[in-house]
Amino acid sequence: MNEKLAILDCGGQYTKVIDRKIRETGVYTDILPMNVPSEKLASYGAVILSGGPSSVWETNAPEYDKRIFDLGVPMLGICYGMQLIVEHFHGVVAPLVKTEYGQTEIQIDPDCPLFAGLDTPQLVLMSHGDAVSKIPEGFLSVAQTGSVCAGVWCPERNLFGVQFHPEVEPTVNGLVMLENFVRGICKFKEVYALEDRIQTSINMIQSRVGKDEKVVVLVSGGVDSAVTAALLVKALDPDQVYAIHIDHGLMRLNESDRICENLKKLGLKHMKRINAEDAFFHTPLQIDGVSYPPLCEVTKPEDKRAIIGQMFFRVTEEAAQSIHLDFDHAFLAQGTLRPDLIESGNPDVSSHAHKIKTHHNDVSIIRALRDHGKVIETNWDWHKDEVRKVARMLGLDEEIASRQPFPGPGLGVRILCADPNTYADKAKDAETKVFAQSLSPAYTAHLAPIQSVGVQGDNRSYRSLCILSGSRLDCDWDVLFHLAKEIPNHLDYINRVVYTINKSSFEKPLHTLYSRICHNEAELLRQADAIVTGELLKPMAKGEKTKIAQCFSVLLPVSENTRFSLAIRAVVTSDYMTAQAARPGVDFPADALSSILVQLEKARLPIDSVFYDLTGKPPATVEWE
Ligand code: XMP
Repeated sequence: MNEKLAILDCGGQYTKVIDRKIRETGVYTDILPMNVPSEKLASYGAVILSGGPSSVWETNAPEYDKRIFDLGVPMLGICYGMQLIVEHFHGVVAPLVKTEYGQTEIQIDPDCPLFAGLDTPQLVLMSHGDAVSKIPEGFLSVAQTGSVCAGVWCPERNLFGVQFHPEVEPTVNGLVMLENFVRGICKFKEVYALEDRIQTSINMIQSRVGKDEKVVVLVSGGVDSAVTAALLVKALDPDQVYAIHIDHGLMRLNESDRICENLKKLGLKHMKRINAEDAFFHTPLQIDGVSYPPLCEVTKPEDKRAIIGQMFFRVTEEAAQSIHLDFDHAFLAQGTLRPDLIESGNPDVSSHAHKIKTHHNDVSIIRALRDHGKVIETNWDWHKDEVRKVARMLGLDEEIASRQPFPGPGLGVRILCADPNTYADKAKDAETKVFAQSLSPAYTAHLAPIQSVGVQGDNRSYRSLCILSGSRLDCDWDVLFHLAKEIPNHLDYINRVVYTINKSSFEKPLHTLYSRICHNEAELLRQADAIVTGELLKPMAKGEKTKIAQCFSVLLPVSENTRFSLAIRAVVTSDYMTAQAARPGVDFPADALSSILVQLEKARLPIDSVFYDLTGKPPATVEWE
């Protein structure tokens, strides 16, 4: 029997999470493009069709080989994948009046083998704008949210479809459903383990790097690049490995010092630290034929990311040359994870995926080097939670293994930039107020004149921020989280909602301030961030660790006076492709937010409003840019 499962990638942001979760069940998977000819699927015992950003009813919906439905193997369609199955068998898919993004309760049919052993109500993640409006003949509806069909089953053909995403954490029993599919329905027996994949990575390094060749590894200090460095030292003679740490002026407080100390313990023989704030902030660049002003002059998130990514490469190249290494003769190793590549819309991973953010380790110059076979990416096939397990298996310090993620662009994407004196659209602000009041009269909503990045229905969004205010910390968090879910679902110009924790109302209209990336603003954010993270990561009352996976602060050029505001972002997640905003008193100590306010006051930091970010991913992303 063929114990391999093929995932056909319809361009979904979560395709690799499907792969990740199926591998967690111990089954071998491959991701293949959605238009793969059915002959190529002959060696697979089952197929999953992923989600995707398109609509099946669009004339330019992506092509696929219709013969895949004659393979006779069990199939599971997820979100777009389910809609594709329904459309193929002559059901109807149509746009929804009210889109669904976020955790939702559905009712399942426990007699369907996909849901074996589960109770009828289930919490799942929905992220879709289309839905099945007519079920094909021979299919049963096996899950619903209100009147929306959330699952179908064709017993005769062994076909299943779910509108929600069983692969992500907000679907509480998603793993049970996937296990039901691979073990109960597909009857797979073999077990494919993480250890095998570590050895595959070591073999890959040894087969590509000759005994007299050198590898330069960029170590940010995070777990990903530390694992890369550790794998290189394990696979090669440590004399072949050169580590470089770049401080771009956008690191957290004292971070570079701690990183460099930690890395020495890894067995690295050659380690170089470069202080490059000036170069990063003030160098104008040409990228792919386009002229960019220096970082200290740009405002758009994608421009910041492009500049920082290019500067990383330039500074690394100069550093490598200074130790007589160049990339015609040496390799560049990076800790790139699979989700980084998916979210950058890398065509090697998915030809249909929408670009959400350019990751600093997947800019065009790195792609060009990759095409020349000069980039070694040891973590290419791992997700964040797996890379942490690998770190522990390789014997790295727990401080590194469980280190909070910090994106390559660092504080650069946490200092929002704007030109002064922009106000929110009046009509939309009024509409936002009325809508929020209809849900809860206790809180007032304000549309802020700034935008941030989100991911909605597998697409990138860049939409407005909604600010709620009310009774400061004497608030009902359940109501606030409910508002944060409903507002972006109903108002399509909003993708993020925050709550004001230090003021009950605003006396003057909110407007933008002039802001650019510069040393002073980075320093202000560094100080505030150390206070915020120090409090949020304190143990819970019973001595348990907080459940926060990542927390940080964001400097916002918006206020009712002339000072910056600060947003606190804390999320609970392990795959980072979806996340829930952390709940005060549930995921971190109840008094942390009030302690933060006291300390910000004590430190006399020039900060006006302090907001707590209530938004999940989707509809927002973890980072604001
Ligand atoms: P988002 O904001 O896309 O972030 O929800 C998911 C996770 O990725 C981190 N992140 C990055 N990491 N380079 C990185 O190495 C980057 O350019 C980058 N951008 C976001 C983010 O902090 C979160 O943990």
